[in-house]
Amino acid sequence: MTVAYDPLDPAFRADPYPAYAALREERPVHHHPGAPGIPEFWSFARFDDIWDAVREPATYSSARGLTFHPDEIGKLGIPPTIVMLDPPVQTALRSLIGRAFTPRRIASMEQKIRDFVRERIADLTERAAAGEEVDLHQLVSSPLPVFVLADLLGVPESDRAAFAPWVAALTQVQNDGFAVDPEQLSGMDAAAQMMGYFSEQITHRRTCEHDDLLGALVAAELDGERLSDWDILGFCFVMVAGGSDTSASLVSHGITLLTAAPGQRRLLLDDPSLISGAVLEFLRLESSVQGLARSTTREVRIHDTVLPEGAKVMMLYASANRDPREFGETAAELDVRRRPDRHLAFSSGPHFCIGSHAARLQATIAIEELLAAHPHISADPSRGVRHDSFFVRSWHHLPVGDLESRV
Ligand code: HEM
Repeated sequence: MTVAYDPLDPAFRADPYPAYAALREERPVHHHPGAPGIPEFWSFARFDDIWDAVREPATYSSARGLTFHPDEIGKLGIPPTIVMLDPPVQTALRSLIGRAFTPRRIASMEQKIRDFVRERIADLTERAAAGEEVDLHQLVSSPLPVFVLADLLGVPESDRAAFAPWVAALTQVQNDGFAVDPEQLSGMDAAAQMMGYFSEQITHRRTCEHDDLLGALVAAELDGERLSDWDILGFCFVMVAGGSDTSASLVSHGITLLTAAPGQRRLLLDDPSLISGAVLEFLRLESSVQGLARSTTREVRIHDTVLPEGAKVMMLYASANRDPREFGETAAELDVRRRPDRHLAFSSGPHFCIGSHAARLQATIAIEELLAAHPHISADPSRGVRHDSFFVRSWHHLPVGDLESRV
């Protein structure tokens, strides 16, 4: 097997899995010399290597950026957010955020999320009945996390028209770390507008209690410590930039994966209680976050390769999640009954995704409702349009069919 791994190659982005398989077998630690727009970097492709590295932040630091962008930390004019801090500062911040952003808060949103999903599916159904070609990603998957984030943060209905474009612009900046792209400016504008908006909301909540996540973040206290405005703004930024496209893609990928595996779909139709586990399996096979970087804080020897201090190392989560050493010979197949002890779609260690409950709940509800309304819904990936990103594997458009038939 020859390793053809070029993160900028459109063919690689369309189907990165053969390259990941080759890397796992032949070059578990691979050196990429760099290219226009990409600095020199190394990549890890095997599950165990990535699992150990992300759990060792003293050696593999997040503080020098997670993508290839040369000025990633300063580019939006905001201080480093939680995802780019190392312990112990990150640990303290995360404990405080955890006082407010609880699994219970997410679980309490279940009915609201279900109502929203049903509304979106009704729209999809109506349009299909009128003969329109319908786009699952634009009509259901993508609006869903925008609704969840806005509701969670307490953005009132009247301000939501402004919120959605901020989410779209920041997601784009976040997704394409290679970017020399003309949209970058609009990302800057979106960041400035959104930060201005949330600054005002935080100030308001400092004087008057609110029963939403922003209010809870303002009130959170641990050992006499409270979150500063910047801490809260940074957290809002990571939630918005990192929690929307990733969650939307999970739903769209779920439908593409089920379209290709009718037997697996049958299992979910016969026993919908399998869906919440199946969602993790969708994420394992089509990891929304394909990879993120760490930087070495000292020289490291691994698989006979010596990484210098300051080496940028891309942790290929999506490759790890298909590693047969961890998931067996069927690692590349969908098995909705698989219940692995661990996977890396949400990373692991100090930066383990703090929004995993929210991501899982909304995707579970969306797949439940889609299969209940349209048991044979099918997606043809060859007719869809993906975002052109190395870091996040996601859809822009995904037409679906077979909406009329019921079991
Ligand atoms: C399917 C959806 C999602 C996926 C695949 C995902 C994936 C990830 C991954 C891989 C990380 C670790 C980053 C690293 O390795 O440096 C992460 C961190 C994070 N995620 Fe998510 N995420 C998702 C949804 C969400 C949502 C919905 C939210 C918020 C509502 C969220 C908030 C965060 C935050 C705040 C962090 C930083 C945690 C820290 O640094 O301590 N994510 N996510």
